[in-house]
Formats: sequence, structure tokens, C-alpha cells
Amino acid sequence: MTGWKPIPRFMFYHRIVRPMLFRMDPEWAHDQAIAWGDHASRVPGLMRLSSRLHRVSDPRLNIEVAGIRFTNPLGLAAGYDKSGRAIRMMASLGFSHVEIGSVSALPSTGNPAPRLWRLPADEAICVHYGLPNDGATEVANHLARQPIKVPLGINLVNTNHGVGAPAASADEILEDYVTSARTLKGHASYFMLNLSCPNTQDGRAFFDQPGHLRELLDRLASIPIDVPCFLKLSPDWDDAAIDRMLETVDPFESVRGFMFNLSPSRRTGLSTPREVWKDWPGAISGPPTVDWMDLRIANLYRRMDRQRYQIIAAGGVRSAEDACRKLRSGASLVQLLTALIYQGPGVVRRINRGLLKMLKRDGISHLQDIVGVDAV
Ligand SMILES: Cc1cc2nc3c(=O)[nH]c(=O)nc-3n(C[C@H](O)[C@H](O)[C@H](O)COP(=O)(O)O)c2cc1C
Repeated sequence: MTGWKPIPRFMFYHRIVRPMLFRMDPEWAHDQAIAWGDHASRVPGLMRLSSRLHRVSDPRLNIEVAGIRFTNPLGLAAGYDKSGRAIRMMASLGFSHVEIGSVSALPSTGNPAPRLWRLPADEAICVHYGLPNDGATEVANHLARQPIKVPLGINLVNTNHGVGAPAASADEILEDYVTSARTLKGHASYFMLNLSCPNTQDGRAFFDQPGHLRELLDRLASIPIDVPCFLKLSPDWDDAAIDRMLETVDPFESVRGFMFNLSPSRRTGLSTPREVWKDWPGAISGPPTVDWMDLRIANLYRRMDRQRYQIIAAGGVRSAEDACRKLRSGASLVQLLTALIYQGPGVVRRINRGLLKMLKRDGISHLQDIVGVDAV
């Protein structure tokens, strides 16, 4: 055999797998990926092989957040494996942690389709899913059936009862979170309270009122939940709103950190022409969010008590440079979702290896040492 060269894994995904996937409807392709991941998760030999191919084990990447040990900073963001069907498959791609959800107390079919679009020129996604998921009880059943070896985050949200459903009362919204937390608490390494879903009516502004957040944390404390809680905030909150939130959470010891959700309204810096996306409802993910998210992280890092809280960053991470910038701005962990779709399953390994190269180049002995170094 002469002239045959193996196709590097990245090129294989780019040249062969992605073009095939991108010919399919985005939501259908996503559902197939989860169904495949669900089946693959049940084949231990395949999981071992996948781990061997993707995992980067190096103590320089270890990081401790809220008392949980993470083998590297990269996690799968909420929204990919909404109901926790393919966790072992996702973990085998080298993620140090997997965040499932958003999960609500009751099952939901989410918003009407179409509700997911690709913007390939921007390597971005426009998402208007509206929180479809199997509901907390069914998710707890999936979780009970699978041993999970990485820290598991469970992202909680209020049930989306669909278009035209009567608006839920404050008490109903708060009880929805509490029911899910009670049902799922034995399975989570941490809870992420999604306070800011950009794509539902109830989800968007409810927690702009600090009284609602205080009431939620009070009710969760009385369960009690014994794992750390993180809050997924709106990136559009101004400084005053962030400071009010910090004041509100101060008495609640279970709150250990924050991250930012997608913005329902910001659509800046897109290469894709406006005519393509102007009629799509929903929020844009991926690289177009990078600058805004990095600013939000640096701002929050400056304002919060760093001894107590840590930041999980997401938004357009697709390279080691992106991850490093977020860490230097103040994040302790970094999650991604959109890059998995555009770059394929090798993305986690490439970023982790890239981070190790950067540490070596800059003479830094441990990744944890770069957290917040650029925050002024
Ligand atoms: C298809 C899709 C579905 C999402 N669903 C959720 C969700 O259910 N809950 C949530 O908190 N965030 C959700 N997100 C936001 C992601 O968790 C993440 O914060 C955001 O996409 C930024 O990361 P990325 O640019 O790497 O995708 C979703 C994002 C996408 C693209």
C-alpha cells in the first residue's frame, strides 16, 4: 500500500462526518446523537476505548471547585444531554464533568418546532428549544440505571407548560425547582439553578426580583440539599443587579458559584447575513458570544467574594486559547456545547492538550494558578 495516509481524527470529522450531519435537520441530528450515545453508553468496552482515545490525564490540569475534584477544567454544558441519557458516552469524550438538563419537575415538550438552527459561517447555533426534557422523575430513573464516574451537574429549571398555558404563579414556579431538587438530590454532584432561560416566558425575568431568589434558596435549604449550588444568571444583568444578587445569596452557604446563560437579545458580530436569522426566535450560542461572556466573567470575578464563589464559564469555547482566556478572566471551570457540534468529539482532547502546551510554554506548574490573573 503506497500513498495512503491516515486521516487525522479532526479532519475525518470535518470532511466526512460533519457534512453528513449538517445535511440533516439540526434537531433530528441532535436526537440521533443522543440516541446513539445512549446505546453506546451501555457497551463498557466501547466506553473504555473512547476514554482511552479522548482522555488527557495530567495532574497539572486538576482543579478543585466547591470541594469537588475535577480532572480537567472542561465540562459539557447543559442542553446537549437534556435528560441524562448519554452521560457515560459524553464523559468518555474526555470531559471532566457533565451537566445535564435543564430538567424540570414535569416532563415538557418545549417550544414548537422548528427551534434549532445552525449558522455555519459563525460556527454558531440559534436555539429556541424551550426546555424539552423527560421531567425529574424519569431523569432520576435514567440516572439510577447508570454508574457515573465523573462529577455530574444537574441543571434545574421551571417546567415549560407550552405556548398558551396560563402563566404559573410565583409559588408554582418555586415549588417546581424544589420538587426537582428533592427528586434528584441523590444523583447530583452539584445543582445548577437555571435562573435565566432565554427561551420561555416564565424563565426570562422571574428572578430579576431578588425576593424570588431568596425565597427559592430558603425553600431549597429546608429540603435540605447537601451538594453545592451554582446559579446560571442572565448575562444582561447590569452591575446593580449582580450586586443585588450577591447580597441576596450571601446568607445561603450552599451557593458556591455562578455562570452566565445565553442572552435572548444580543446578536452582534455575526458574519451570517441578517436576512438569514432575523425571523428566528431564540438565543445565539458559540463564538459570537465570546467577547460579551468574557467581559461578564471578568466583571463578576471583580465583584464576588473569591474565597467563597467560583465561576463556571461557557460561551464560544472551541480552542485552548478560548479556554485559557476564560480561566485568566476568573473562571475555574469551562464548559462547551456548540464546539462539540462544529469540531466533533476530538475537541476536548485538543483543548486539554493545548492547555498543557501553554502551561509548559509559560513555565506555569498548575492550571489553577492562572485563574483570574487578568482580572484587574
Ligand atoms: C442547543 C442548545 C441547548 C441549550 N439548552 C440549555 C438548557 O437546557 N439549559 C441551560 O442552562 N443552557 C442551555 N444552553 C446553553 C448552554 O448550556 C451554554 O451555556 C451556551 O450554549 C454557551 O456555550 P457554547 O457557546 O459552548 O454553546 C443550550 C445551548 C444550546 C446551543
